[in-house]
Amino acid sequence: MTSATILVADDDKAIRTVITQALGRKGHDVRTTGNAATLWRWISDGEGDLVITDVVMPDENGLDLIPRIRKIRPNLRILVMSAQNTLLTAVKATERGAFEYLPKPFDINELAQVVERALSEPKSDSPAIQEMEADDEGLPLIGRSPAMQEIYRVLARLMSTDLTVLINGESGTGKELVARALHDYGKRRNGPFVAINMAAIPRELIESELFGHEKGAFTGATQRNAGRFEQAEGGTLFLDEIGDMPLEAQTRLLRVLQEGEYTTVGGRTPLRANSRIIAATHRDLRQFVRQGLFREDLFYRLNVVPLRLPPLRERSEDLPDLVNHFFSRITEEGLPAKSLDAGAMERLKSYRWPGNVREVENLVRRLAALYSQEVITLDIIEAELSDISASSEMETNVSASESLGEAVERHLQDYFEAHGNALPASGLHDRILREVERPLITLSLSETKGNQIKAAEMLGINRNTLRKKIRELDIEVVRGIK
Ligand SMILES: Nc1ncnc2c1ncn2[C@@H]1O[C@H](COP(=O)(O)OP(=O)(O)OP(=O)(O)O)[C@@H](O)[C@H]1O
Ligand SMILES: [Mg+2]
Repeated sequence: MTSATILVADDDKAIRTVITQALGRKGHDVRTTGNAATLWRWISDGEGDLVITDVVMPDENGLDLIPRIRKIRPNLRILVMSAQNTLLTAVKATERGAFEYLPKPFDINELAQVVERALSEPKSDSPAIQEMEADDEGLPLIGRSPAMQEIYRVLARLMSTDLTVLINGESGTGKELVARALHDYGKRRNGPFVAINMAAIPRELIESELFGHEKGAFTGATQRNAGRFEQAEGGTLFLDEIGDMPLEAQTRLLRVLQEGEYTTVGGRTPLRANSRIIAATHRDLRQFVRQGLFREDLFYRLNVVPLRLPPLRERSEDLPDLVNHFFSRITEEGLPAKSLDAGAMERLKSYRWPGNVREVENLVRRLAALYSQEVITLDIIEAELSDISASSEMETNVSASESLGEAVERHLQDYFEAHGNALPASGLHDRILREVERPLITLSLSETKGNQIKAAEMLGINRNTLRKKIRELDIEVVRGIK
């Protein structure tokens, strides 16, 4: 390992000490300062092999230093660390040419790894500093939880690329918002953002919606119509609820993505597809692939960069920010200002939020419209939440009363329907039996705490047969856990 000189600027002495120790152990020479001016002097004197800088420092913002550093020393790599964990910081840092962005608090070992990478990775002709600058207003994503910071980090890296992104997340987690942010701050932002929702369009119209049609292509096609691909030319095409796309249309879409060309319905001349693709779904597409409902090859085409948006219950620390954000939006619309007392906020943090951020937004709207109090208290929240859980309990009871046979029948009907006039691929019997066998065996094993002898006995099958099935179905056996 070669030793390097690393320049560190952070006004927090504790952080300077931790970094000095960790990188010193790796044999590096670490020089630290609490202000930007000293850092800048070192750099302009030609010192250092790597810079690690904080954002907020007493004299200057570390982010503002980056373009100046890049101008005089384009080969000097810069790591940015910040406690201002917003999408804006991540985007700005990446945009201005930082090598990596580390939200605070970070794991010191992770920092050490990034440092080694920054020192060893070959420097390509340093990419020109991008023109684009995100402005402080308007970055739409709220939340500073670690889970969201990870999202911001990935988003910031994706902004300058044209990579296909597949966004997965429960309903209301912000999939569409993220898709728009990728467009609005990406390099195609001057082009159109065109969204199409696969679940909302009748299946027989999907192809003509996507690719357009010529006059007279089918009954009712009284004039030529541009499809979404054509409308999204030069911009971004957002394929929402991609999991609901019928199989025939999937085949067509795959071909377009592979060939970069499409023809309109009833048309002959191939047109070039020139748009960035972002797809989203709340469904488990891998599961759909296993069930034969989604083409595996299309899945891999779309899943170039997977982005999983965490459900709100995994980041309840974001709730106060979200609630305040929606309250302030509502005051902009002229409704009176309101806030929550501590007990009310705590209650919201412990709630499960099946509808995620959208549910927060709706609740805040309801609170603003229905209650005259300025401060919303715990009892109001309790009343509002019990209304919600009463209505969702009714829904769960419906599915609880469904028998296994009925459930299978319902799934099979959906499955056949998804194929429209076509038949599913051969091997259906095996696929369906595997689908049922997997939970049967997994749950039997968990009931017997992983004891295969007991599980085989309960199931009434031979132990060797059970072992074979575990292997074939790729079931993970965990002992002693129930
Ligand atoms: N992190 C966030 N910060 C601020 N607002 C958010 C955030 N996430 C979601 N929202 C808001 O919540 C609402 C739902 O978001 P969006 O429509 O993007 O969800 P979705 O994942 O596409 O949901 P669905 O699967 O139901 O279509 C929108 O009004 C959006 O602006
Ligand atoms: Mg959506």
